[in-house]
Amino acid sequence: MWPRRTQRSEHIMEIAFKSVLLALLVGSCLAVLMAAAQSSHHDSIMMSSEETDMGSHARIPEEVKELGLTLLSDALKRTKLEQTLVAADSLTLFAPNNEAFLGLPDWARKAVQNTSTLTEILQFHAALGRIKFSTLINELLAYSLLGKQIRFNIYGKANANDPVYTAQCSPFELGRVDQPATNGVIHVLERVMIPPFGDAVAYLTAFPRFKILVKALSIAGLTETLKGYGPFTVFAPTDDAFGKLPPGALDKLLKNKTALANVLEYHVVKGTFCSAGLSNGPVRTMQGRDVSISISFEGIKVNDAKVVYPDSSITNGVLHIIDTVLMPPSFSLDSR
Ligand SMILES: *[C@@H]1O[C@H](CO)[C@@H](O)[C@H](O)[C@H]1NC(C)=O
Ligand SMILES: *[C@@H]1O[C@H](CO)[C@@H](O)[C@H](O)[C@H]1NC(C)=O
Repeated sequence: MWPRRTQRSEHIMEIAFKSVLLALLVGSCLAVLMAAAQSSHHDSIMMSSEETDMGSHARIPEEVKELGLTLLSDALKRTKLEQTLVAADSLTLFAPNNEAFLGLPDWARKAVQNTSTLTEILQFHAALGRIKFSTLINELLAYSLLGKQIRFNIYGKANANDPVYTAQCSPFELGRVDQPATNGVIHVLERVMIPPFGDAVAYLTAFPRFKILVKALSIAGLTETLKGYGPFTVFAPTDDAFGKLPPGALDKLLKNKTALANVLEYHVVKGTFCSAGLSNGPVRTMQGRDVSISISFEGIKVNDAKVVYPDSSITNGVLHIIDTVLMPPSFSLDSR
């Protein structure tokens, strides 16, 4: 389930979502070509034909109905994807359950009323070949029919019996994975996956509310790093968050590259930590010191910063938007 959100974070999401849609249009053609070029990658994670299920099952869309995924079933019917899923030889469908669709905020529900938008989102939920649940490994990437890659993560949580598995930060329903169909396999998800906009820097640059962070990353020489393969978890303070610093502090920071890099690296963690994979306790940052994660009914906090929008979908990890700039321990703004 998504943490409780404020009006403002919904607004951030809406902007994010619109940007995603724009990027999808541009990105999908190129990505399809890339997918074709890299299709050999699939071979290693697919079941062989002997392993495919020979029981009395139906095609994928029929099995979606059998699983009681009525909202997904309706969505597939509204788009041409239902025919694709009937005709395909071998596909994996990552199938959001009804709660996942009901959990979409109002603006997103409005957005998917547009059939071409809905089609693109659903194309991101299907991949060529049968990807068995047991073949998933942490940070594995698989090309979706949209051409963009789905990132898989596995988290062993301290207080949970079972590890948490996610696909592009959407948790798997562990009781309903590897559901067979004659022409593929279905894994049920607890959230609708949002196709990634781009890398962390592309994402931040697309938004007016990250002007200061984008500029600061550039001054600190961290832009190329965050455009890189990663994967990273980025805690991204908004311009409003930088506005909460004491008067003059930001200007001083922007003039001292060493100090600035120190602060910014404290906002980046190696590896993809989706909200579903975060638990209470310390997490080591690129700067070398830990941030402290705390989770409550109110949402997620990183030190004293509140995560106003978790799980922004990016290609090289995940990005969580925060409302306060994080300061490394024993870092004093006054002495800069
Ligand atoms: C649906 O979205 C597409 C772009 O994704 C746009 O071109 C089209 O105008 C939209 N249709 C409606 C009815 O808004
Ligand atoms: C810049 O920051 C570094 C490390 O935080 C500090 O040691 C140095 O004195 C600062 N330089 C200036 C000119 O303030």
